[in-house]
Amino acid sequence: MQNQIAQVFKDKFGGCGTFYTSAGRINLIGEHTDYNGGFVLPGAIDKVIMAEIRAIGGDKVRVYSLDIDEYVEFGLGEDDAPDEQWARYIFGVCREIIKRGYKVEGFDAVFAGNVPLGAGLSSSAALESCFAFALNDIFNAGRIPAFELAFIGQSTEHNYCGVNCGIMDQFASVFGRKGNLMRLDCRSLEYEYFPFHPEGYRLVLLDSRVKHELKDSPYNRRRESCERVARRLGVETLRDASMEALDAVKSDLSDEEYRRARYVIGEKQRVLDVCDALGRGDYETVGRKMYETHDGLSHDYEVSCEEIDFLNNIARRCGVTGSRIMGGGFGGCTINLVRNDAYDSFIDTARREYHTRYGIEPTVYDVVISDGARKL
Ligand code: GLA
Repeated sequence: MQNQIAQVFKDKFGGCGTFYTSAGRINLIGEHTDYNGGFVLPGAIDKVIMAEIRAIGGDKVRVYSLDIDEYVEFGLGEDDAPDEQWARYIFGVCREIIKRGYKVEGFDAVFAGNVPLGAGLSSSAALESCFAFALNDIFNAGRIPAFELAFIGQSTEHNYCGVNCGIMDQFASVFGRKGNLMRLDCRSLEYEYFPFHPEGYRLVLLDSRVKHELKDSPYNRRRESCERVARRLGVETLRDASMEALDAVKSDLSDEEYRRARYVIGEKQRVLDVCDALGRGDYETVGRKMYETHDGLSHDYEVSCEEIDFLNNIARRCGVTGSRIMGGGFGGCTINLVRNDAYDSFIDTARREYHTRYGIEPTVYDVVISDGARKL
């Protein structure tokens, strides 16, 4: 990928720039908890965005996306937003850096990636983090703190892309470290690395190939429901709510609001339980919690879909240790914790049965937990 980018950069702009990369992410458990102030347990993966970038002075940005063969130019003022969605991620990052009082000037860039789009692996966060990291290095001598880089990506989603997301994806792609999951407390922003080498097990993603699109999706409505319940309970976020407190106001809530909040409050505890189990090497408990999360996401939070539930049921039948829908939902991947001896028959069965039912095979991605944003 790097050679190809270098060649195209030379052809389009002449000379060369500096290479930066950032990664997509998985999340073992802790879904839809980030914007509720709860815990998440993500890790960066070996699916990346890579960019070659060079400062050119002035205030014009020229970017070429190798994968979709599109070239876009834009200025750095608030009114200069490009129409192309992919370019808005980069424009948004520039604007959010400038709004925070840091510097961005004109630059040339060519980028490519292998994070599947719309699969729930945070291709957009990888793109934002790659450019945030690079522009911090090129124009600001690295003065922007790492957490601020993650917030710059998140604000880009909020202000330029219409997704009212939490901080998990950008955090994972900025802070990712090879071989480690990270437990982030999304209220205090304290985080801890958890080495993840589950001996005897593999983590594998099955991509349903149902493309999810969080923009204008019920994702934002899920968040609004949670915020309404939090207000009703008089707490800042559902992180500070208990099941007892929720039950006490049940009659004031719609059935839907109650179920949304029940899921979030349960998920907060499941992340902590999984971290304890990881400490003991107890992967059977980890897996059981993953299934519980799936049930909650499917029935209470209602962010699964038929195809994903179908894959989850196959996992149960094949004796997979843990399986659940991953990421924002409405399509994308399941994440599966599988004993080595169950792996082949699970993958074969999933491929065969999914094909019989939907006419396509799920794409299989073995998870390799890798480093996040950096200069190459
Ligand atoms: C998307 C969002 C994240 C998070 C997840 C669900 O990936 O970008 O902030 O809310 O969904 O856990």
